[in-house]
Amino acid sequence: MNVQTRLNSAVSVRDQFPAIAGWHYLDSAATAQKPQAVIDAITNAYGRDYATVHRGVYERSAAMTQSFEAARAAAASLIGGDESELIFTRGATEAINLVAATFANGNRKRVLLSALEHHSNIVPWQLAGYAIDVVPLTDDGRIDLDAAEKMANESHAIVSFAHISNVLGSILDAKRAAAIAHKVGAKLLLDGCQAAPRLPIDVADIGCDFYVYSGHKLYGPTGIGCLWGRADLLDAMPPYQGGGAMIDQVTFERTTFLDAPARFEAGTPHIVGAIGLHAAIDWTNSIGIDRIHAHEAALTADCRTALLGLNFVTLYGPEDSAGIVSFSVDGVHPHDIGTILDDEGVAVRAGHHCAQPLMELLGVPATARASFAAHSDASDIEALVRGLHTVKRIFG
Ligand SMILES: Cc1ncc(COP(=O)(O)O)c(C=O)c1O
Repeated sequence: MNVQTRLNSAVSVRDQFPAIAGWHYLDSAATAQKPQAVIDAITNAYGRDYATVHRGVYERSAAMTQSFEAARAAAASLIGGDESELIFTRGATEAINLVAATFANGNRKRVLLSALEHHSNIVPWQLAGYAIDVVPLTDDGRIDLDAAEKMANESHAIVSFAHISNVLGSILDAKRAAAIAHKVGAKLLLDGCQAAPRLPIDVADIGCDFYVYSGHKLYGPTGIGCLWGRADLLDAMPPYQGGGAMIDQVTFERTTFLDAPARFEAGTPHIVGAIGLHAAIDWTNSIGIDRIHAHEAALTADCRTALLGLNFVTLYGPEDSAGIVSFSVDGVHPHDIGTILDDEGVAVRAGHHCAQPLMELLGVPATARASFAAHSDASDIEALVRGLHTVKRIFG
């Protein structure tokens, strides 16, 4: 089937990504390539419009402040949130660290995670002194919410799950996860790193309490990410870092702080990062996140079918995995798969994907992973399959 017909302008979408010309980039789950619109926004922000935000009295600074705050509104609106509840961070990692370090739910010091979490959703809780309970997975690689329901109890401060697994591509039933957390008085944090670029999200409809995502996986720049949190929760959280831009009054004896989101954004922010993220969100909306989701789902299904046709390949994750296909080749280390595919102009990720506990559960040291984006098309899958035949030929 010609997947390009599923996203009318797929050819021109691909052409908007200058860095992938002549290349089969199947590593968008690690970081997305940037469309020209984002590159132009960053170039203009530095080359034409640049000034600091929030402090300058001159016109350029006021304009930059407006652009920065417009980016916040766009970043919140992407997930159905309000801009007053949207904190800019360096990425999803910093966003989870911020919550782990500052959120408190009475004296509760346990967190409920799942077996498929990224290290970014494990280590911050350990550093913050939480004890971790781990929800197992279903046989097809989803977070087992029946088990979660049995495990959740009033010792849990928070339930923190990936909205989409970065290894298995499985999509969480987020509304049910929210109900499970709330039933025992816990809060729900969703790690939306993989969901934000490929799934329509509405935090109010889900009923979650915190939502995090990274700009660079959503066609935007690195160094910018988002933490959305419910206003009443953010209001109760102390500052994460201290410095300029987050204070109300400072004396040597005592400092008072601004309200959220400013209270959590110490120092000069990543101004151009926010502007680049805004351009990325506008670009994504111009294609339509629903269409991107459908396009990637169709490619994922085609890719799984093609790989299942190779009797030397093992697939991981559910049939309806979203944009992400993890696999291994019998008797070949994933790094060798990655190297040979690279020789053939195909970029895949090979490794533990920052999910070592999941690798242990799968009983493998690593997997290879192909992941899709709005610019992906059937030629990427064909090149992957060709490359895997080469892998098989070389390793016999
Ligand atoms: C599911 C998931 N969570 C968290 C992260 C960490 O994101 P970042 O490194 O952008 O902070 C990633 C990135 O690979 C991810 O895929």
